[in-house]
Amino acid sequence: MADDNNRAFEAGAARCPGEGWDELMKADTIDPPQFLKDESYEYMGSAPLAADRYTSPEFFRKEVERMWPNVWQFAAREEEMPDAGDVVLYENGGRSYLVTRQADGSVRAFHNVCLHRGRKLRLASGWSKDFKCPFHGFTWNTDGSLKEIPCRWDFGHLNDENMQLPEAQVGRWGGYIFIKEAEGGPTLEEYLAPLPEHFKRWKHEDCVTSAWVGKVIHANWKATAEAFMEAWHSVVTHPQILPFTGDANTRYNVYGDHVNVALTPFAVMSPHLDASAHSQQWIVDEFLKYNGRAGGADLKVQVPEGTSARAAMAAVNRERYTAMFGHDHSHATDAELLDAFTYNVFPNFAPWGGFMPNIVYRWRPWPDQDSTLMEVRLLMRVPPGQPKPRAPEMHMLGEDEPWTAATELGAALAGVFEQDMANLPYVQDGLKASKNNAVHLGDYQEIRIRHFHRTLDKYLARFG
Ligand code: FES
Ligand SMILES: [Fe+2]
Repeated sequence: MADDNNRAFEAGAARCPGEGWDELMKADTIDPPQFLKDESYEYMGSAPLAADRYTSPEFFRKEVERMWPNVWQFAAREEEMPDAGDVVLYENGGRSYLVTRQADGSVRAFHNVCLHRGRKLRLASGWSKDFKCPFHGFTWNTDGSLKEIPCRWDFGHLNDENMQLPEAQVGRWGGYIFIKEAEGGPTLEEYLAPLPEHFKRWKHEDCVTSAWVGKVIHANWKATAEAFMEAWHSVVTHPQILPFTGDANTRYNVYGDHVNVALTPFAVMSPHLDASAHSQQWIVDEFLKYNGRAGGADLKVQVPEGTSARAAMAAVNRERYTAMFGHDHSHATDAELLDAFTYNVFPNFAPWGGFMPNIVYRWRPWPDQDSTLMEVRLLMRVPPGQPKPRAPEMHMLGEDEPWTAATELGAALAGVFEQDMANLPYVQDGLKASKNNAVHLGDYQEIRIRHFHRTLDKYLARFG
C-alpha cells in the first residue's frame, strides 16, 4: 500500500473493476497484434496541474516561442494538394505557411510572408502558378525562388539568395504532410514512433478525407484536445453510448514523449450499467443506433445464441468493410473492426486507428489561449486501383451553428461532438475563475493528459 491518505492501490495501479481490455483481447475471434495486447502505462505522479496553464497569456507566449517551432505539425493531407502548384495554407502559433506541391511531386513549405514589406502572399489554399504579392507585385516561383521584382532598378541590393522564401522542414507519412519550423531535431519517423509501426495494418495512405468540419471553440487548445484524451466522461457527457461503450474499461498506453493512445472497446456494455439487466442483442441494437461510424440505419444484426455482441458485430463489419472498400479484412481482429483507437501525436494531432472509417482530429490555438480551431475529418479507404478523389474543403461551422449542422459527419457522431463542445466554454470560464489554481487528474484514466503536459514541460524547458 502507498502511504497517501485514501489510496487503496499502489500509485498508478488502480484499474476499473470487471472485465477489462486484457480479457477482451483474449476473447477476440482473431488473435490481435501484440501491440494491442501489451500494456504500456507509466505512473507519472499525482500532483495537480496549474489551471493557469490554460488561461495565462504568458504561458501561451512560451508555447509559441518554445514549443510550436520545435514540433512536427500535421499541416495537410496529400489529397488536399495532389497536383503541382496546389497550395495548402497552414497557419498556427503565429506563423503562416504555403505547403506547396512541386513539379516533381515533392512538397515544400514556405513562410507565407512577402520579403518586401511583409504582406501575406496568400490568404487561402488553392492552385497557383506563382506567388505574387498583391501589394507591389514582388513574385516568387512555387519553388520559393525569386521570379520578379517590379521597379527592379530600385532594389539593386536584393538578389536570388536573399530573396529565396524561407521554408520549414517537411515530412510525410501515411498520407499526412507535416511541417517543422526549426531546423534539426528528430526526424518525422523518430518523432512518430511507434505509431507508423502500428498503422502499418490500417494504412492511412490508402485513405482519403471524405468529410472535414471545423469550428472555433471558446476554450484553450489544450483543454479542447484533452476532452478527447479520455473516455470516461461518457458516463455523464454521452450517456446514450454507455449501452455499447466500455468507457471505464479503456486501456491507456503511452509511448515515449510524443505518442499515446486510448483503446476504448465498443459493443460491450459500460461497467457503469447493470450487465444482468440487458441482453447481448440490446448492446448491438444500441450500437447500431448511436455509433455513427458503424453505419447503415437499415443494418440489422442478430446475435446468435451463445455468442457475444462483439463477435457478432465484428463478423458483420469484417464482411461489410470488405464489400465497401475492396480491401480484404479477413485478418482484421474484432477490436480493429469495432473499437476506438484514439492515438494522439504531441501536440495537436489525433488519428484514430483500426478499420472503422477513421476519425482524425487537429487542434490549433485560434488565435490565442482562449480559443481553438477544432477540426474533425473522416477518412475512408479507397478501393485498390481506384483513383483517390481530392479532399473536400473544410466545412467551417459558424459561431452559432451546432455540430449537428454538419450532416456529412452523420447525426449520431455529430451529436456526440455537440455534447463534448457544450462543456468546453465552461471549462475555460471555470479555469479562469479557479480559486486554488489546481486541476486534478485520475492516475490511470487521465494519464494521457499528464503525459501531454510532461512533454510540453520538456519543450518549454529545453528551448527556454
Ligand atoms: S509587400 Fe509584397 S510586394 Fe510589397
Ligand atoms: Fe466525448
